[in-house]
Order: sequence, then structure tokens, then C-alpha cells
Amino acid sequence: MIVERLPGRVTIYEVGPRDGLQNESRMVPTADKISFINQLARTGLSHVEITSFVNPRWIPQLADAVDVARGVERHPGVTFSALVPNRKGLESAVEGGMKEIAIFLSASETHNKKNVNKTIAETISAFEEVIEPARAQGIRVRAYVSTVFGCPYEGPVDPRRVAGLVTTLLGMNVFQVSLGDTIGVANPAQVERVLEIVLADVPAKDLAIHFHDTRGTALANCLVGIMMGVTTIDAAVGGLGGCPYAPGASGNLATEDVVAMLDAMGVETGVDLDKLVECSQAIAALVGHDLPSKYMKAHLGARARAACQGKS
Ligand code: HMG
Ligand code: MG
Repeated sequence: MIVERLPGRVTIYEVGPRDGLQNESRMVPTADKISFINQLARTGLSHVEITSFVNPRWIPQLADAVDVARGVERHPGVTFSALVPNRKGLESAVEGGMKEIAIFLSASETHNKKNVNKTIAETISAFEEVIEPARAQGIRVRAYVSTVFGCPYEGPVDPRRVAGLVTTLLGMNVFQVSLGDTIGVANPAQVERVLEIVLADVPAKDLAIHFHDTRGTALANCLVGIMMGVTTIDAAVGGLGGCPYAPGASGNLATEDVVAMLDAMGVETGVDLDKLVECSQAIAALVGHDLPSKYMKAHLGARARAACQGKS
């Protein structure tokens, strides 16, 4: 029975303002980003990744990271995080008042090189300049491993390599490692296989899962992860998202789709779906195109039908 293998509660880690906006061709003005993040922080979400302190020549969409971080309203019960690749990024994160950051690397060398201009070994060495200095200032550090389920340049990725990286990162005192299906190639059987190997070495509470929905499998993949004990799910409102250094990558699992599924199965997330849909509509207007979330479309359709019936 599926229901017997579900937890009572799941934590949603919203990545739309970062993973979503890093991939948009239209630049969203800083003030609009701040309003969007403030709106997300009022939906009941407890974790929102708001930006990246990376080289603005690499990700111009997030060049205003310090202003965004300084501009958002802090709420008790809501943790803001941001990507940090190196010491310079940490300095900016501190300037922005961040209390949580996330480091990132890939499980495949070619994607890692294209994304951060370093080998995997060099990237891990550079983390020494980030993790302990951050922790010494009271900043929690999360980590991502990207291309866990396939690399756009190298194809298949060995799950044992992923497990080794997860162990290394946890050994460096990050509090959680998020496993990224950067280009959305994973399938549920593969998720089970990879998680079995990773979970042989580390507890599920130290993991998060991060699926992109390029081929429509993100929700199914996510359900497998939850049934295997992972209770932190990365998602992006509206299904925004993608990595500019991973050709073919498209949006993340849509936050409202996963929250709606979990709600319907009696798994608590603490997130208000109606408020989430309002955030989706707001960011769709700002990026200037429709977003892929299925729940949003169904919800707006139902609302429009109800309005028509009210008039007739
Ligand atoms: P680099 O060019 O090798 O850096 O970039 P460098 O150390 O040689 O420095 C070159 C210049 O960059 C210098 O400036 C530095 O000051 C500057 P200059 O002297 O030429 O004027 N610089 C910086 N500026 C601002 N902030 C910084 C910073 N660092 C150096 N932190 C670097 C190396 C890592 C910085 C670059 O490759 C980079 O910014 N990459 C970011 C790529 C990125 O953000 N990709 C998307 C996120 S990953 C993802 O989406 C996957 C994920 O969602 C999970 C999944 O889906 O699987 C997380
Ligand atoms: Mg991503």
C-alpha cells in the first residue's frame, strides 16, 4: 500500500527564485524579485532559495543577488538560502545577511567544468574556503550534487560515484545533500536504484531530491523518493527552472503540483495552495510566458468555469 509508505509531513524547499530565474531570458527587476520572494514567504513555505552569489558574467539574471538578499523581508519560520560557489560568493552572501547557503558540484566532470570552470576535485578543494568559514559565522551549509541521473555531455552516471560524493560532502559538515536530476532524465526505477545505493551509506534525513520535469517524470520520481524515506523535496513554483550550462534542461518539478499531490494523499507540507497559485501567476506575468504547472492550469480553469456558472 502506497499510503503505508508515506510520511506524515514533507518539507518543500522552494527554488523558483534561484533555479527558475537563472534560466529566464527576461531580466526580472530587483524590486519585482523581492516582492515575489516576499509573497512566497507568506505561503507557508519554510525554505526558499532566493538567488546565487555567482559570477554575474556567468549568470547575469542573478547579478543583483546582494540587493535581493538585503531587500527581502525576514519571517520567523522561513529560511532563505542561496548558491555560493567560492570564497567571493561567501563574502557577498554575508553582505546580504544570509544565514544559509548551498554549495554545488556535479557528479560528471564535463558538466562540472562547464558549470563552475573547475574539475570535481578542484571544486571540492574550493569548498574548504566556504564551508568552515561559513559555519564559523553561524551560516548553515547545504550541498547539491547535479547530474546524478544523467549528464548532458557524458550520458549515464555511476550511482557509486554519486554515493561517494554524498559521503564526502556530509563529511565536510554540510547539513544536507540534494540529489539533482539536472536535465530531467530520471525514471522511477532508476530513482529507486540510485537511492538504494546512496542510502546504504547515509540516512534519508540527510538527503533531498531535486527533479527537473523535462520528460514529465518528476512527480513520479519524487513519489519514489518519498516512499524511500526522503522528506525534503526541491520544487519551483509554476515549474520554473533549468540550468544554463545543461543543454536541454527545463523546469523543475512545480511546487503546486507536488503540494497538491501530497495534500490529496494526506501528507502535510504546511503550504497554502491558493497562495502558491497566486505566486505562480505573479511570476508568470513577470517572466512573460505561461508556466508548465499542471495544478495551476487546472485550478485556474476550475475558477473560470465557476465564474461563468455564477454569471449564468
Ligand atoms: P571563473 O571565471 O573560473 O572564476 O568562474 P575565477 O575565480 O577565475 O574569477 C574570474 C572572475 O570572476 C573574477 O573577476 C572574479 O572576481 C569573479 P575579474 O577579476 O575578472 O573581474 N568571480 C566572482 N564574481 C562574483 N561572485 C563570485 C565570483 N567568483 C569569481 N562568486 C565561478 C568560477 C564558479 C565563479 C563561475 O563558474 C560561476 O559563477 N558559475 C556559476 C554557474 C551557475 O550558477 N550555474 C547554475 C547553478 S547550478 C544548477 O543549476 C544545478 C542545480 O539546480 C541542481 C540541479 O538541477 O542538478 C543546483
Ligand atoms: Mg536545478
